[in-house]
Amino acid sequence: MNKEERYDVLYRQIDSLIAGEENLVGVLANVSSAMKEQFPSEYFWVGFYLVDEKSEALRLGPFQGTVACYTIPYGKGVCGSAWAQGHTLVVADVDAFPGHIACSSLSRSEIVVPLFAGNRIWGVLDIDSTELGTFDDVDRIGLERIAPLLSHLGEKCLKP
Ligand code: SME
Repeated sequence: MNKEERYDVLYRQIDSLIAGEENLVGVLANVSSAMKEQFPSEYFWVGFYLVDEKSEALRLGPFQGTVACYTIPYGKGVCGSAWAQGHTLVVADVDAFPGHIACSSLSRSEIVVPLFAGNRIWGVLDIDSTELGTFDDVDRIGLERIAPLLSHLGEKCLKP
């Protein structure tokens, strides 16, 4: 299977995996597991950071991979920048991204996709690779198609 096909399989798997399920932590844990299983060598770390409006920061959520930073302020790092800018960031070389937050020294490239509920961002999906330049438009399009499957969960993170 090529990468497009693998994202299509992942989309359909996640769609059925989360159908009717409202358990935020459980769903995000299963989604990160399904993603890591579909891309075991490409994804070194895959997981979620959730918006905490009170502290204007992202808080570590469910993930697969090595231990990670708990808190990322608004506008900081790749995750906080994707949140502030409101669009996906594809970083071919994390050392060339000003302010990149290195949770693991093994990370070389990264993609961060903001998660929307309506027009509000409730979290980000963060994926790291140990190779340079792992992520491209195929990853961006595949992940941006999957992200809306999770939008109903956003209400659990944001204030009404
Ligand atoms: N590198 C991210 C921090 C999160 S870890 O990669 C898991 C960033 O710069 O926001």
